[in-house]
Amino acid sequence: MKEQILALKKEKKALILAHYYQPMEIQEIADHVCDSFEMARRARDAEEELLIICGVKFMAESAKILNPGKTVLLPAPDAGCPMADMIEPEDVLALRAKYPDAAVVCYVNSSAAVKAVSDICCTSSSAEKIVRTVPEKRVIFVPDRNLGAYVASCVPEKEIILFEGFCPTHDRIQEKDAIAAKSAYPEAKFLIHPECRTEVLQYADYIGSTAGIINAALESGAEAFVIGTEIAIVERLKVLAPEKKFYPMTTSFICPNMKKCRLSDVLNSLENGEFEITLEPEEIRLAQDTLQRMVELGT
Ligand code: 13P
Ligand code: SF4
Repeated sequence: MKEQILALKKEKKALILAHYYQPMEIQEIADHVCDSFEMARRARDAEEELLIICGVKFMAESAKILNPGKTVLLPAPDAGCPMADMIEPEDVLALRAKYPDAAVVCYVNSSAAVKAVSDICCTSSSAEKIVRTVPEKRVIFVPDRNLGAYVASCVPEKEIILFEGFCPTHDRIQEKDAIAAKSAYPEAKFLIHPECRTEVLQYADYIGSTAGIINAALESGAEAFVIGTEIAIVERLKVLAPEKKFYPMTTSFICPNMKKCRLSDVLNSLENGEFEITLEPEEIRLAQDTLQRMVELGT
């Protein structure tokens, strides 16, 4: 199936972008394996007419918003992000009415409609920089309360208004899981994603995005690491640095939605043009600015 996919990809001049949480079989056929920021940047700059986004729906929507002239396909159409579904545009508008002097910084894990009523988007790798960059002293940060709380601790000079959204995969990890990993692997460095709770992040030697965690592990002189994010990062690191030891914070650290895309789905996308992301032109127009500003500001 991999050979069929690679041949069809060439024939149809498609670009396949995969998130780091995708199954290894998908990572192996992708042109680029990326964190959310890199995926958005690559989608914006893509020259191919057909973009296949192996990830969750908001990633494919962001690709369409940033490069609307292209055909964008999401091979597993029911791969959503529960955190993105926790907030509606009305929630943002209510916060805006309550705090009219605040800027709205919206985590990229959100719908196009929520992006459209926000001022600027961010990813986990750019959240701190973007909160620092907006001129307003008060910032409404949506929807991830954990990432928002982490950014608030990095930028104490700003007042951050949080929303009660969270990633079920990261938020499920508890302090006792970090303590258990510490006692099992006392020598290991802890590399943790900021979607985790504050009480888990306090054990981190490094906090960052999926790409940040991978780079930190590769660049570190340490020999053992506990990885506080989705289990696919552990699998990738074991391949990239076989001489080092990588342990998951818990073995249940799995995003079920990221595992929905299989090789057969990618083949179906290439053969049948499924499943196309379509957004209203007005929705694209309103959300585009927030995402463009995010990509332009960098990480
Ligand atoms: P990053 O790849 O930007 O770290 O995001 C992780 C994530 O949870 C995506 O949903
Ligand atoms: Fe959404 Fe969490 Fe899965 Fe990322 S890991 S896609 S935030 S549910």
